[in-house]
Amino acid sequence: MDLNRRALLSFMSALPVFGAASAVAAQRTPSATEGPYYPSAKMRFSDADNNLVRITGAVRAAGGEVIVLKGRVLDSAGTPLNGARVEIWQCDVNGIYLHTRDRSRGGYDDAFQGFGHVVTGPDGAYAFRTIKPTVYPGRTPHIHVKAFAGGRELTTQFYLADHPLNDRDRIYRRLGAAERELVTMRFVGGPDGPEATVDILLEAGRRYLWTAADWRPSPMSSSASAKKPLVWREVQKPSTSP
Ligand SMILES: [Fe+2]
Repeated sequence: MDLNRRALLSFMSALPVFGAASAVAAQRTPSATEGPYYPSAKMRFSDADNNLVRITGAVRAAGGEVIVLKGRVLDSAGTPLNGARVEIWQCDVNGIYLHTRDRSRGGYDDAFQGFGHVVTGPDGAYAFRTIKPTVYPGRTPHIHVKAFAGGRELTTQFYLADHPLNDRDRIYRRLGAAERELVTMRFVGGPDGPEATVDILLEAGRRYLWTAADWRPSPMSSSASAKKPLVWREVQKPSTSP
């Protein structure tokens, strides 16, 4: 296990137990469009773990400012969700997505994984090592996020606190002040660089876009549930608005 993996696992195990269930009972993480660049399975690297700045076998790390994004997946009562799958995807330091259509422009950072996933343990914790999102034409910096957990599914986007382009972003501007707080990354110094904590509050009753079929456990997952023979497999074409 390299240092990055060890650090991530320590983050996940060191996260405090969420104690104020009532504080989040009335809140849900606001959903946002999936956008046109969600990478299908065949577009991803075979390494799709939660360390996006190091691809297995790559000779160098990804370009960009390395950060840690972490938090917990909670249900509408504030209870941590065990076995939740969390995915993130974002453009590389050059503003290019790990997606066939975007990579065709050229210049993609082949050391950047572009997509990653993790499965929560009983404490509901997730963590990713990735890069601080960059600007690309027409959008403020953001990280796309999907979370799936027993009957609940959410697609959203996380933003940089106080970024000057936020207020000009057509998707960010649709959010109310309280909603913005729920998807804002505020960085503090951590043992392994800047880290932001954003909990994901899922809503019951959302439709599945995926089905459990043949999932293999993430090598980064410390979850006992990760040993279950489950795989999230796409069963419905996602939307394509930006
Ligand atoms: Fe995007």
